[in-house]
Amino acid sequence: MHPQTYPELESSPGRLEDDFVTRRPRADEAVKKVVRQHWNGRAETFDDASHHGVHTADQRDRWLDVLREWAGEDSRRALDVGCGTGVISLLLAELGHDVAGVDVAPAMLARARRKARDAGHAIDFFRGDAERLPFPDDSFELVTARHLVWTLPDPESALREWQRVVEPGGRVVLFEGYWDHEEPWDEYEEIHGDLPLYDGRPPVTLRELLGDEGLRDLAHEPLQDPTLWGREPHHDYYVVGGTVPR
Ligand SMILES: C[S@@+](CC[C@H](N)C(=O)[O-])C[C@H]1O[C@@H](n2cnc3c(N)ncnc32)[C@H](O)[C@@H]1O
Repeated sequence: MHPQTYPELESSPGRLEDDFVTRRPRADEAVKKVVRQHWNGRAETFDDASHHGVHTADQRDRWLDVLREWAGEDSRRALDVGCGTGVISLLLAELGHDVAGVDVAPAMLARARRKARDAGHAIDFFRGDAERLPFPDDSFELVTARHLVWTLPDPESALREWQRVVEPGGRVVLFEGYWDHEEPWDEYEEIHGDLPLYDGRPPVTLRELLGDEGLRDLAHEPLQDPTLWGREPHHDYYVVGGTVPR
């Protein structure tokens, strides 16, 4: 996969016209800078939590079952957006998909690359923005994103962007939750007001949003099996997906 080149986020000054049309693009870049800082700081320990990393053979098998059902059995060109340390990317590769991952946080990507190398998977990991992907139209047959939409300043445009890079008939599949955070923590204290889905959403609400943004054949399913998370789930977890119209 050869990505188009976009300026690195921190060196992107925002065009002058942006200020006349809307101030949002520049404000969103500032939010993403804080998001990136947060996840860079968590990269070394992210996988230690059983609801993030894969800790047992049973947990791995259970995730593979879910991915087989939602990503399909045939090998697909798959993009894992907001891939983090590559948990879902590696599982998709294990199922035989041709996987790329993209994330805004270099330290998370470094972990993902190391894990893929250790596991013998040829996964391409790119640094990039989920709302402005560095790939041409129709590059993939599948986009996955786990626990990402809550931390995006413009999730609607992200959903459109993910459809742009998936060819018609392909799928967008999100693993999400309704966390209803009691209070923001760390860097999120500063930015949570700029994140429209910060608390997650009930599955029906996110499914409606996927439909509003153009996806079809919508479906969702709870993911409350404790084996998936290595503990009793503390929140409502689910998978929701839709097809990019032809
Ligand atoms: C909760 S973690 C989930 C990581 C991974 N999807 C998983 O489930 O293990 C959220 C990830 O989204 C990434 N992220 C946040 N905003 C992003 C953006 N605008 N573009 C790309 N990645 C982003 C973060 O760097 C972080 O790695």
